[in-house]
Amino acid sequence: MLEKNVVKISEDVYWVGVRDWNRRIFDALIPLPKGTSYNAYLVIGSEGKVLIDTVNPGFERELESKVRSIVSPEEIDYIVMNHAEPDHAGAIPHMMRIAQRSKLVTTVRGSKMAQIYYHVPQDRIRVVADDEVISLGNKTLRFIDAPMLHWPETMFTYIEEDGILFPCDFFGAHLAGGVYSDEVEDILVHAQRYWGEIMMPYRMMAQKALERISTLNIKIIAPSHGPIHRKPEIIMGPYKRWAAGETKCKATIAYASMWGSTDAMVSLMAETLALEGIELAIYNLVVTDIGDLVKDLVDSRAVVIGAPTVLGGAHPLAVYAAYLLKMLRPPTKFFTILSSYGWGGGAVRQIQELVKDLKAEVVGVLEINGPPTEENMKQIIELGKSLAKKIKTEA
Ligand code: FEO
Repeated sequence: MLEKNVVKISEDVYWVGVRDWNRRIFDALIPLPKGTSYNAYLVIGSEGKVLIDTVNPGFERELESKVRSIVSPEEIDYIVMNHAEPDHAGAIPHMMRIAQRSKLVTTVRGSKMAQIYYHVPQDRIRVVADDEVISLGNKTLRFIDAPMLHWPETMFTYIEEDGILFPCDFFGAHLAGGVYSDEVEDILVHAQRYWGEIMMPYRMMAQKALERISTLNIKIIAPSHGPIHRKPEIIMGPYKRWAAGETKCKATIAYASMWGSTDAMVSLMAETLALEGIELAIYNLVVTDIGDLVKDLVDSRAVVIGAPTVLGGAHPLAVYAAYLLKMLRPPTKFFTILSSYGWGGGAVRQIQELVKDLKAEVVGVLEINGPPTEENMKQIIELGKSLAKKIKTEA
């Protein structure tokens, strides 16, 4: 039900977030082709009013007016800070100035961050322990520590009577549009991309959190980016698979090519893998949206990097892709490098060094001088067949 640009998601529980249609980059790293939303929620209990998370700086007035369309924000008793990153906590100073009797509810680590980032006085912070509850009369808020999902201070909030989980970044998607995920046709594409960009490095913590919330009777998942999941199974199943590091019979190829030699090597590798029945995602890094590449790293069993040598090392775009692998820690099982050089190599060594922490098995590397010869073509086909066999055997 929509009223005054807020959404009633349950009895006395409202989405009061904002939509940032035109934002195109996050953390100076993550492309946002569809913008994003900053979801905040208002909970009206019989004995307390609570704002769960706020919004990005610049949207304070919009948040305030949405809250004001339901209650007088001066009456808010608690502002829950599930996560201290400014896209959710940036409007805390504004809202706490209006809601003068309100306390900020957060974890021990969150308390420190609130003081450093938002200058919230210590006497206006209520620190909650893992599993602690705050009663609002007819509604009970339970707080669940969820460290590293996305920062160390992160927690989830759960309304027991409504079965609503507010996990902040977890289960989110960078999409400005949409209200409920079951109404968004390609929700899992966006959610997978988001998982890869934000949650994938913390798969172990995600597994722990999923285990922890498995005992809750969750009816609605209300994240702080993107659509709300009123059918939790839409996102719960994929999150379990992604957190477990399940991969498909799939390879992602990311490459750069200066004069076509690495391109020729990569193309033959792609053709060989395709003929072997391997699902493929291929990215020429010159024109790649990094979020698309990361989405495919989430469930690819193998990764092939095509990296020409330039000035004694790997092409910078290939270095960037390899560094993303190192940072984001996808569940890659097998790894191959294809490289061409003009008068001296170096790319393969550099890429291998960058990805060594992935602990993926290196299934052959090929570094050649100039364009691939007939002999090189045979080597690539053999390498592709070996890689395909490994990918299929692991299934
Ligand atoms: Fe959406 Fe980690 O902030």
